[in-house]
Formats: sequence, C-alpha cells, structure tokens
Amino acid sequence: MQTEQTTQKIIVIPGDGIGPEVTEAAVLTLQALGAGLEFTFLDRINADRYLRDGVALTDGELEEVRTAGTVLFGAVGDPRVTNPDYARGVLLRLRTDLDLYVNYRPAVLLDERLSPLRDESRRGIDCVVVRENTEGLYTGVGGSLRTGTPDEVTVDQETNTHLGVSRIVEYAYGIARRSVCMVDKSNAVRFGGQLWQRVWRETRDRHPELDSSHLYVDVAAMKLVKDPASFDVIVTNNSYGDILSDLTAELAGGLGTAASANINPRTGMGLYEPVHGSAPDIVGKGLANPAGAVLSAALLLRDRGLKSEAEALERAVRRTVAERRCTPDLGGTLNTRQAGEAIRAALD
Ligand code: NAD
Ligand code: IPM
Ligand code: MN
Repeated sequence: MQTEQTTQKIIVIPGDGIGPEVTEAAVLTLQALGAGLEFTFLDRINADRYLRDGVALTDGELEEVRTAGTVLFGAVGDPRVTNPDYARGVLLRLRTDLDLYVNYRPAVLLDERLSPLRDESRRGIDCVVVRENTEGLYTGVGGSLRTGTPDEVTVDQETNTHLGVSRIVEYAYGIARRSVCMVDKSNAVRFGGQLWQRVWRETRDRHPELDSSHLYVDVAAMKLVKDPASFDVIVTNNSYGDILSDLTAELAGGLGTAASANINPRTGMGLYEPVHGSAPDIVGKGLANPAGAVLSAALLLRDRGLKSEAEALERAVRRTVAERRCTPDLGGTLNTRQAGEAIRAALD
C-alpha cells in the first residue's frame, strides 16, 4: 500500500457520535509518537450543522482537504438525520470527489480470545477486504416516481465502469501475498457481473504467481465464517465490501478494532477512518473502543512512509489488548480515554 508522500499536514474530521471520542485518542497517539504531523481540525463538519443549516460539506472544506491530501476521519451519522444526503454529502463526497477508489480494510485477529469462532484451527484471520469505493450502488444514479403513493417506483442503479473495476482488481493483485478472491453476484446481476468477471479473468491471467479464486457473495460470507484463515485478499464492489468488512471486523476481534484506509494510490491522497459508525447507542458513555481509530492512524503513518512508527502503534494496541488494558467490548474495564492512554503508555 505504498503511496507517494504529499504532505505531513493532516485534516481531522471527528464527525458525530463516538467519532470525536475515538479521533481524540488517535490524534493524541500520533502526537505522542512525535512523527512531525500537523493537525487542522474541521470539527464544524457534523450533524448539528447539517440540521441547522442544511450544509454537509462546503466546497471550501473539500478544497482544504484536497490541498492537505490526508484526512483522519471519525464517523458520520446521527439518529436525528433520517435521509442519506448528509452521509452522502460528507463521507461519500470525499471518497468520490477525491477519487479515493480503494477502500483498504484489513482484518487481523488481534488476540486469540477475541475470535467468536469455536474451532481454534480456524480462528487466525489475516486478510484484507479491498472494496471498490467510488461506484456500484453508491453513485446515487436513479430516481423515483409517484413518491409517497401506493404506486411508488424507485430505481437505484448500480454503476460499474471498466476503469473502476480494472483499477480496483489490479490494486488487489498488486498487494496480495498469496491469493486473491474476487467476490461478486454475477449469477444474478447481469451486466456488471459480466464486466467484473471479464476484468478479473484478464487480471488473473497476468498474475500466475498468485492463487486466484472466485466466490459469489453469499457463499463468501459463509466461507468467511467457516474458514476465515483461508483468505488473503478479497476484492469486491462497494456494497459487498461494506458488508463483508463488518463481518471480517468481527472475526478479527470486533467492529471497534477495525481500521480502514480510503486511498488513491496514484495521487497519494488518503482518508483514514475506523470501519465502525457513530454508534449512537454508546455515545458519551466512555464505552467506545479507540483501537479502530488508532489502527487507522497506523495505516495513515504507513502511507506517509512512517513504517516503524506505524508498527510501534500496532504493537502497542496488541499489547494493551493482550493485557486487557482496553474497553469492555474486548474484555477490559477501561473507558475510551483510559484505553487511549494505555495505548500511548505501551508505545516502545
Ligand atoms: P455502528 O458501527 O455505529 O455501530 C454498530 C454496533 O457496534 C453498535 O452496537 C455500537 O455500539 C458498536 N460499536 C461501533 N463502534 C464501536 C466502538 N468503537 N467501540 C465499541 N462498540 C462499537 O453502526 P450503526 O449503528 O449501524 O450506525 C450508526 C450511525 O453511524 C448511522 O448513522 C450510520 O449510517 C453511521 N455509520 C457511519 C460510518 C462512517 O462514518 N464511516 C460507518 C458505519 C455507520
Ligand atoms: C462505511 C459506512 C458507510 C458506507 C455509510 C456511512 C455510508 O457504512 O464506511 O462502511 O456504506 O460506506
Ligand atoms: Mn459500513
């Protein structure tokens, strides 16, 4: 996942719910590492402003992010906002307008005791979901007729382009260590399914050094539970990647621990965020696990060329989890702040 270094200025968008709680831990940890990063907080981007002014993300904020090139993101989402325009206007706009076409979502079992699986031989998940991040069902192409009547018709079109599919499949092959599994629903979805199949076969044939396989998404979900250790890189579309990465997160230790990088490997731009959302059910209670946000910061460090700092951070998270100096979702008794402090204290 090497990208060119653009700048050491980091934009921080804490967002909503537990977003600010976990982002604080991630920023303090980056500062403790002393990696020479400079932070600019855009904390006005949140649901309160959207509800008050109807503004999700301004053009000026988008340009500020584009200039910096790197974002540490918390989460967006608020129970008071019931339409998708807000999340689309912030997170999906950043992904799309900055063309962050790779959503890199690694899942590595953090500690033996955290696996939900009974069979010990199958627990060791160590894979990456490579999710296409700019197309599919997420483009917003579609419409509705006779809205609010019993004759209502809605259409949400799934967009797949040759460029979009080929660059994500090629990226997946480029980072694989052992194997690539392409996941689709080409037994039911007609045109996009054929495009993914064709592009995947062509890419597979250019990479005989790697094992290649294909699974339909339903059986991929089954096999992830049955034999998670058999996966290396999973490449799939926007929707299936969204769903499967919550599944791999839980197999690796829990949703609160899962990290992700939204990147454009060609421009070097990146937005780093935990896989989880704003978790309104636990906001303000100190129950939010900061590990997913902290490990997302580690992905940021890797992409900025700070590999040893990233590894130090990952080791610190592992150590605290092993010693149960963590939040209750991982069997600890610490609150969010204390768990962040424990990670910083464990830095070597
Ligand atoms: P969620 O990921 O916020 O929460 C799912 C469950 O996991 C909840 O029980 C929550 O308490 C728990 N959880 C999540 N993060 C945790 C953490 N760090 N520590 C401990 N427990 C944690 O999913 P949801 O409830 O479906 O969504 C809530 C809001 O977040 C919605 O508005 C949704 O659209 C939004 N969302 C945003 C993002 C994002 O910004 N990237 C991602 C997913 C969901
Ligand atoms: C994620 C989230 C988002 C997505 C939502 C908030 C639009 O679930 O980042 O996984 O579906 O991409
Ligand atoms: Mn999701």
